[in-house]
Amino acid sequence: MKSVLNNILGAVGETPLVHLKKISEREKINVYAKIEYFNPGLSIKDRVAIKFIEEAEKNGKLRPGATVIERTSGNMGTGLAIVCAVKGYKFIAVMSEGNSVERRRMLSALGAEVVLVPQAPSGKPGFVSGEDLELVETQTKELASKLNAYRPDQFNNPDGAKAHEETTGQEIWSQMDGKIDAFVTYVGSGGTFVGTSRALKNHNKNVKCFVVEPESAPYLAGKKILSTRHRIQGGGYAFKPPFWDNSLVDGYLTVSDEEAMNSARNLAAKEGIFAGYSSGANVAACLKTAEVLEKDSCVVTILPDSGLKYLSTDLFI
Ligand SMILES: Cc1ncc(COP(=O)(O)O)c(C=O)c1O
Repeated sequence: MKSVLNNILGAVGETPLVHLKKISEREKINVYAKIEYFNPGLSIKDRVAIKFIEEAEKNGKLRPGATVIERTSGNMGTGLAIVCAVKGYKFIAVMSEGNSVERRRMLSALGAEVVLVPQAPSGKPGFVSGEDLELVETQTKELASKLNAYRPDQFNNPDGAKAHEETTGQEIWSQMDGKIDAFVTYVGSGGTFVGTSRALKNHNKNVKCFVVEPESAPYLAGKKILSTRHRIQGGGYAFKPPFWDNSLVDGYLTVSDEEAMNSARNLAAKEGIFAGYSSGANVAACLKTAEVLEKDSCVVTILPDSGLKYLSTDLFI
């Protein structure tokens, strides 16, 4: 147990890793989940937020009293809002109106200014497409230059992957005691996949790393994009970050909206783990690795955020 913390940032990381015994019960493989909703912002992005702000402080991009601005689907913003609240920076989150309402309320409560960008004409709430994100991008760029604000820019900043290489990957390796055969995770900015896979492969180059994408948008796998309008919030944007590293990829998996939702419901009902859409997608994808891995393989995945972030959607009704 950690002793008294100086502030809430000390509670980021060192999250639990749980063997999903009931879900693995009749499977050929064993699935383990790193539960990132134990972070203060209820998501994996708190790790990245600390890294972005501390690196910017070190290299002089961020001075006391400055403003920080970021384009976010919610979790990156929540992480940055927490770090900025603790360190005394003003924070502006620019997000699509298509993201769930809990996300924006949490951001406001944490002292962030939330700028909502209307969706593209064919947009539907709950489905944030690549087109919607382009609109958010334009607005973020304009505001950042007008306000002379610091923009961490998670989709282009390699420090996101570094945060995972230094923390998430090391934690998984030591929690599994090195007994890990595969790592599986969904891709948004790509930081979790790249950083964690790199750390695990540095420990053992035989760890197989699998990318998870929506069934309708297998972009990184180089297949046809049918639509970027899917339910798995936080990724699947048909985007390849500049810091992407193909040499880390051993395979590509896809998950449909229905599979992701059923899997998130299963996690809650069977394992008592209340997580979001991408967590469901990750666990569903892990089960698909049984086709290519040896019997009794240990497969680790990430549960990026909490089910509490989706109470206004039909994920849990
Ligand atoms: C819910 C959720 N799942 C998955 C991801 C993807 O993580 P990464 O950006 O590290 O690829 C994100 C990123 O914001 C997210 O919010």
